[in-house]
Amino acid sequence: MSTPSGIFISFEGGEGSGKSTQIRFLEQWFRHRGRDVIVTREPGGSPGAEEIRALLLTGDPGRWDAVTEALLMFASRRDHVERTIRPAIAQGQVVLCDRFADSSVAYQGYGHGLGADFIRQLWKLAVNDFKPDLTLMMDLPIETGLARAGARFANVSAAEDRFEKMGRAFHQRLQQGFHEITAAEPDRCRVVDADGDVQTVAARVASVVEQFLAGRPA
Ligand code: TYD
Repeated sequence: MSTPSGIFISFEGGEGSGKSTQIRFLEQWFRHRGRDVIVTREPGGSPGAEEIRALLLTGDPGRWDAVTEALLMFASRRDHVERTIRPAIAQGQVVLCDRFADSSVAYQGYGHGLGADFIRQLWKLAVNDFKPDLTLMMDLPIETGLARAGARFANVSAAEDRFEKMGRAFHQRLQQGFHEITAAEPDRCRVVDADGDVQTVAARVASVVEQFLAGRPA
């Protein structure tokens, strides 16, 4: 049997959008269809990138200025792409990634005000515009997301909460960023309504993925 083509799918969204749970469901969905799957995340996803993740997510919220933070995100992303994602795709695996470069456009570009163009230049320089085949934009009202993230917050280690301390205006800019990213690349980016119970949202994700697979050359 010939090796199937590798597929790279990213999940994006604000805090509390249920990405990690839905990624696990989609992982099983692909396994039931006989595919090899790896689940990975950003920042992180390779040994070097995980070290950079620790620098990014721990410490004082003002620890890095916005440009340094963006550069660290892309340093970690390059390592992740070269050491984990590309090799997995070359072996015909399905790569499911919790956040990718769209998060840098939304968080550093819109949230921290660096601008989408600046981030897209880094994207080009760092990984030559390498991007997912499909991006699932998990869409949730800000209120609902923050309430969910707040419940989770009680269990999050103090070391990893640096990004959760941002204010409401920041989350509005994020949401606007994700909407504009989707509008700019509607073929790659598909919005999934993330408001609902886990099974309902999983069915929505599966339906979008099925549609995507149907449109791909075998
Ligand atoms: P994580 O604990 O993985 O949060 P989440 O479950 O919300 O994905 O932490 C990742 C944080 O890093 C998250 O707040 C988003 C932020 N981030 C950026 O600011 N830029 C990026 O490019 C990426 C990948 C993540």
